[in-house]
Amino acid sequence: MLLRSLLAAVVTTIALAAPSLAQQSGRELYERRCASCHGPDGAGREGLGPSLTGAGAAAADYQLRTGRMPLQNPQAQAVRKPSVFSEEETRLLVSFVASLGEGPPIPSVDPGAGDLSSGQSLFIANCAACHGAGGNGGAVGNNAAAPSLYASEPQTMAEAMVSGPGQMPVFGFSEQERNDIIAFISYLQTSEAPGGIDIGGTGPVPEGFVGWFFGLTGLVMVLVLLVGTGSSRAR
Ligand code: HEC
Ligand code: HEC
Repeated sequence: MLLRSLLAAVVTTIALAAPSLAQQSGRELYERRCASCHGPDGAGREGLGPSLTGAGAAAADYQLRTGRMPLQNPQAQAVRKPSVFSEEETRLLVSFVASLGEGPPIPSVDPGAGDLSSGQSLFIANCAACHGAGGNGGAVGNNAAAPSLYASEPQTMAEAMVSGPGQMPVFGFSEQERNDIIAFISYLQTSEAPGGIDIGGTGPVPEGFVGWFFGLTGLVMVLVLLVGTGSSRAR
């Protein structure tokens, strides 16, 4: 009996809460969580947040799905963290930001259609300088870091390329080229020793190895000389 009235109470609460949740529009969410830095109409606020009028759905989806927004400290680089929004809230916020002006839409992605070797050359030519040849990240100028790409989803990768977040440039690739690159990054994510794939190519791995090899050879030569002088003195 008690259980039944408890159940009834729970059901009524859910029934009452559900419509109000569904009615919560993107604008309301935006005003609560974003307007303090980006301004009530998305025009931006000096020193707090950039204008979002040309950001588009791609930038908004990237920033929200990677948990970068809402930012806590406007002076610090936005970093990947678990998203604070549900799927529905994300969708509402993305369409609200997209409605603020013209900007790149969410690009379509088909990693299965990507060509791995074309993706590798495109990645080395366009991405490796900042993200590393193995995709494990690195430092870029202005105290910023290019993050590791191991946690990125295909959708996020495409959105990063079309929206150019933070210090990253916008890339005008074709959909095929994006798919190629995404296929290659996905390969890096699943291969056992991602740093090893470019032995024989160019990049930090062979260079580091060469340095290490000559360093070691030098050390051995010094040791041989030392042992040589030591033994001649002993005689
Ligand atoms: C504490 C301030 C702050 C809050 C709150 C905040 N942002 Fe931001 N936002 C920033 C700053 C600063 C940047 C620039 C960061 C960068 O480029 O790395 C930014 C960048 C962005 C961008 C990328 C703009 C572009 O042109 O690429 C989008 C989109 C965005 N924010 C959306 C949002 C949304 C949506 C919310 C609310 C859920 C939000 N932000 C909350 C400060 C904030
Ligand atoms: C000039 C340096 C630079 C270059 C070149 C560059 N990136 Fe980035 N990339 C960055 C930085 C910095 C960030 C972090 C942006 C931020 O603060 O939100 C980033 C973020 C990313 C992310 C999001 C990672 C995450 O958190 O999931 C992806 C994916 C990505 N880049 C892919 C690429 C690809 C693919 C290319 C080549 C086509 C590329 N980047 C070229 C600097 C660069």
